[in-house]
Amino acid sequence: MGQGQHLLDSQYASAEWDYLRSMEEAPRFGIVSTYCRLLASNGSLLEIGCGEGFLLEHLDRSRYRRFTGIDISAVAIERAQALTDDRTDFVRAEAETFVPDGRFQVIIFNEVLEYFDEPLKLVRRYEPFLAPGGHFLASMFAAPYTARTQRIWKQLETRYDVAARCRVSIGRDYTWNIKVLRVPPSA
Ligand SMILES: C[S@@+](CC[C@H](N)C(=O)[O-])C[C@H]1O[C@@H](n2cnc3c(N)ncnc32)[C@H](O)[C@@H]1O
Repeated sequence: MGQGQHLLDSQYASAEWDYLRSMEEAPRFGIVSTYCRLLASNGSLLEIGCGEGFLLEHLDRSRYRRFTGIDISAVAIERAQALTDDRTDFVRAEAETFVPDGRFQVIIFNEVLEYFDEPLKLVRRYEPFLAPGGHFLASMFAAPYTARTQRIWKQLETRYDVAARCRVSIGRDYTWNIKVLRVPPSA
């Protein structure tokens, strides 16, 4: 889709994404990390579009057997490498072609599905990499710019059951929808 690696690299290099560590963004990370704890305690997590490892900074790493984060930006991944340890790895890869080496209890799309022309196709690509009983966890900006993300949720809900949902708002201006999705047994 539109924003390629070059643009994202330059945005990371010029600190445009630093606001992701601000207090305004913290509540949505709080909800996403709580769902991770409930769904994958002692399990494994894969995050698509992890940036510099922002989510990992909110997680209690001792609770997870494995965390893998991937991002298209080499600049972001180079910074994320500082968080690597024996159960944590970061890979520079494109979500459309990355092939994980295992299965995960939770696969996370945190504010990234808007980047893709065919978000449902992208999520479906990762179904074989969900552990049995595993879940997708997605967060998308709900306001402003609501129309596109609403369309994406509709598409996702043609395929997945919503196991849990939460709406996070800060002040009057910014809202995110966060949903836990599972493949229905009949799929
Ligand atoms: C809005 S940021 C979200 C970062 C972080 N997940 C968060 O919740 O704040 C979107 C991220 O998706 C990454 N991204 C965009 N297109 C991608 C692609 N095709 N493959 C992998 N990562 C991609 C960007 O580099 C960026 O780090």
